[in-house]
Amino acid sequence: MATKFVQGLTLCVIATSMFSVCMANKDWSMPSNYSDWWSRFGNRHQNKTQQQPRNIIVGGSEHWHFGYNYTSWAFKNGPFYLNDTLVFKYDAPNATSFPHSVYLFPNFWSFLNCDVKSAKMVANSTQGVGEGFHFVLKKWQPYFFACGERNGFHCNNGLMKFAVMPMLRPFGPWP
Ligand SMILES: *[C@@H]1O[C@H](CO)[C@@H](O)[C@H](O)[C@H]1NC(C)=O
Ligand SMILES: *[C@@H]1O[C@H](CO)[C@@H](O)[C@H](O)[C@H]1NC(C)=O
Ligand SMILES: *[C@@H]1O[C@H](CO)[C@@H](O)[C@H](O)[C@H]1NC(C)=O
Ligand SMILES: *[C@@H]1O[C@H](CO)[C@@H](O)[C@H](O)[C@H]1NC(C)=O
Ligand SMILES: *[C@@H]1O[C@H](CO)[C@@H](O)[C@H](O)[C@H]1NC(C)=O
Ligand SMILES: *[C@@H]1O[C@H](CO)[C@@H](O)[C@H](O)[C@H]1NC(C)=O
Repeated sequence: MATKFVQGLTLCVIATSMFSVCMANKDWSMPSNYSDWWSRFGNRHQNKTQQQPRNIIVGGSEHWHFGYNYTSWAFKNGPFYLNDTLVFKYDAPNATSFPHSVYLFPNFWSFLNCDVKSAKMVANSTQGVGEGFHFVLKKWQPYFFACGERNGFHCNNGLMKFAVMPMLRPFGPWP
C-alpha cells in the first residue's frame, strides 16, 4: 500500500537519523525482516482484536481471594491499557467465609502501608458475585487497589493489593 510505504519511509528516515539502523540494508527503503522491524516501532502489526479494550479477570482463575500474590499477578498480566476493564470476582460472605471488597487508595504511601482508612470503597462485599465487579481504567493515572477488609489485614497479610498504571495504546484505536 502506498501510504504504508510512505509511513515506513518516514519512520525509516527518522530512525536513520537517530540510530543509523536503516543503512545496514543497501536498498535502504525497506527493511529485510518486517516482523522484527514493526515490533521495534510500536507493535503496528497488532490486529484489531488486540487493539480493543479487554476485560481482565483479576487473579485469573484464582479470582479475588486471601493469600494470592496480586502484585505478582499484575506484573505478569500487564501492561494494562486505558479503557481496559478489571473484573473482581468474589463470593458473598457466609457463615464460614470472610468478606472481601475492593478499595482504591488515594496515593502510593497509603497503598504501601495498607492504610484502608484513607481509601475509598468502590465495591462492597456482595458486588463481586456472579459476573463480578467491573472497574474501567478510564484515566491515565496510577490506580492502587486492595481488599479493605479487617482493617488492612487482607491487604497486608493476604497480599490482596496491586497497582496499575494504564498505558496509552501506541497508535490509538485501529481505524
Ligand atoms: C524476523 O525477526 C523475528 C523477531 O526477531 C524472528 O522471530 C524471525 O525469525 C525473523 N525472520 C526472518 C525471516 O529472519
Ligand atoms: C488477532 O489477534 C487475536 C488475538 O491474538 C487472534 O486470536 C486473531 O486470530 C487475530 N486475527 C487476525 C486476523 O490476525
Ligand atoms: C509477591 O510477588 C512479588 C513480585 O513477584 C514479590 O516481589 C513478592 O516478594 C511476593 N510476595 C510474597 C509475600 O511472596
Ligand atoms: C475510552 O472510552 C471513552 C468512552 O467510551 C472514549 O471517549 C475514549 O476515547 C476511550 N479512550 C481510549 C484511549 O480508547
Ligand atoms: C461459604 O463460602 C465458601 C467460599 O465461597 C464456600 O466454599 C462454602 O461452600 C460456603 N459455605 C456455605 C455453608 O455456604
Ligand atoms: C452493596 O452494594 C449494592 C449496590 O450498591 C447494594 O445493593 C447492597 O445492599 C450492598 N451490600 C452491602 C452488604 O452493603
